[in-house]
Amino acid sequence: MRIILLGMPGAGKGTQAQIIEEELAIANVSTGAILREVSKSKSELGQKVQIYLNSGQLVPDEIIIEMLVERISKDDCNNGFILDGFPRNIEQAKSLDQAGVSIDLVIYLKILEEQIIDRMSGRRIHLPSGRSYHITFNPPKVDGKDDLTGEDLIHRSDDEPEVIKKRLEVYFNETEPMLDFYNNKDIKFYEIDASEPVKTVTEKIFKIIN
Ligand code: AP5
Repeated sequence: MRIILLGMPGAGKGTQAQIIEEELAIANVSTGAILREVSKSKSELGQKVQIYLNSGQLVPDEIIIEMLVERISKDDCNNGFILDGFPRNIEQAKSLDQAGVSIDLVIYLKILEEQIIDRMSGRRIHLPSGRSYHITFNPPKVDGKDDLTGEDLIHRSDDEPEVIKKRLEVYFNETEPMLDFYNNKDIKFYEIDASEPVKTVTEKIFKIIN
């Protein structure tokens, strides 16, 4: 099973990808998580990526496409994968076709823009794994700690109001046009109302998958 999750920043892609990964035992490939790891390095690439993340801009296609194609060629992707955060524009979507990567299902998580600030301001993440929580809507078992490792959770540096504004602008200009690209393609495309609670959204996703 090869699934693409699409949606606005904060729509719940990462949250649902985690659940699908556990249920289906397929790889969870989050380009945001990969880039956050890379940005921690002091290398030239790490520093470059950090600038894009902190400004809410997309990392250039030539960097991210190569990283993604390399990532999905790893053994843990043999049984399938969920793409969370890729593709982000039509060029990236076409790159999957060009690399001969077929996709079974595209799920678009639709949310109202008004909900974004609430979701992002309360978000806490476990940086090494990318696991995402919310202090109210999806709290960890122990306050401030990752459920699996017990390590500290952090507030993402791009979850600040000014950067969120930029990320939304980028989403509307570059990512949203991709919905038509997939809608017009010979591929299973589903839209889900992702403004509902996590559990309800998960149930809808599994109804489609099953
Ligand atoms: P990325 O990490 O992919 O960020 P994003 O797409 O902006 O999405 P988010 O991670 O913010 O949101 P999400 O939809 O995963 O929501 P989540 O589940 O966490 O990308 C970050 C940056 O990396 C980009 O800005 C760009 O610079 C770069 N980048 C990444 N991919 C790239 C690419 N392909 N090309 C170029 N650059 C790239 O949920 C949000 C919060 O809400 C959480 O707190 C969660 O607990 C809560 N929540 C989730 N679902 C619900 C619900 N149903 N009800 C209530 N609360 C909920």
